[in-house]
Amino acid sequence: MVNNPFVALDGYEQYPVEEMRTRAQAFLATMQRRRTVREFSDRPVPIDIIEAALAAAGTAPSGANLQPWHFVVVSGAETKRRIRFAAEAEEKEFYEHRASKEWLAALEPLGTNTDKPFLETAPYLIAVFVQKFGLLPDGRKVKHYYPVESTGLATGILITALHHAGLVCLTHTPSPMGFLNGILGRPRSERPFLLLVTGYPAEDARVPDIRRKALSEFVSFVGDAEVGGDVR
Ligand SMILES: Cc1cc2nc3c(=O)[nH]c(=O)nc-3n(C[C@H](O)[C@H](O)[C@H](O)COP(=O)(O)O)c2cc1C
Repeated sequence: MVNNPFVALDGYEQYPVEEMRTRAQAFLATMQRRRTVREFSDRPVPIDIIEAALAAAGTAPSGANLQPWHFVVVSGAETKRRIRFAAEAEEKEFYEHRASKEWLAALEPLGTNTDKPFLETAPYLIAVFVQKFGLLPDGRKVKHYYPVESTGLATGILITALHHAGLVCLTHTPSPMGFLNGILGRPRSERPFLLLVTGYPAEDARVPDIRRKALSEFVSFVGDAEVGGDVR
């Protein structure tokens, strides 16, 4: 017997095909305007907007519904300063010693370097943590399934929600990010996933002129006719 009762699919909405098409295209147009920004304004952002975006992130699907993520919203100047200091130290190591030539070449068009002023300028740094396992009140561990995939999905929804609300963010991954556990007081069972620098763009913010792959470059469609060979 399942002790969790089932409920009706009340929230789901269906649209006529034309309306679906319009909605799909409108969403695509919205998402095509999303860009990673590295120059931020210090203009404050009301916290309820961040909370709503985080609540949207919390709707993500997750392995066995274990919701294996934790988000820390940092707004304090001193904490941001400590994160910047630690991140810049790691980035210096990365750029000067750890990064392969290939990696540095891939980063070249983005113009990134070891200087991370946005970690202090932006009103919020949202640190995302993956929980490899959960803890019951009595201290027993609960294994999480697909925690990285699930946290990636939640983070994608968060980025989308922030963009939809009219904010910008930078997906920042100083490598390694273990210092975030110490500064933010998160247990070692949580792995820092990434740091989402969030706010308004600086007035004169510029972004790299990059191109996105066309649909045909990253999607294939398979009907029966396209499947070759032995499909047993
Ligand atoms: C997992 C991940 C890690 C990233 N890490 C960094 C980073 O540490 N620093 C940075 O400047 N950009 C970082 N980025 C941003 C990418 O460079 C950016 O998404 C990419 O260049 C495409 O640009 P767009 O987001 O404007 O489309 C990261 C993005 C992802 C998804």
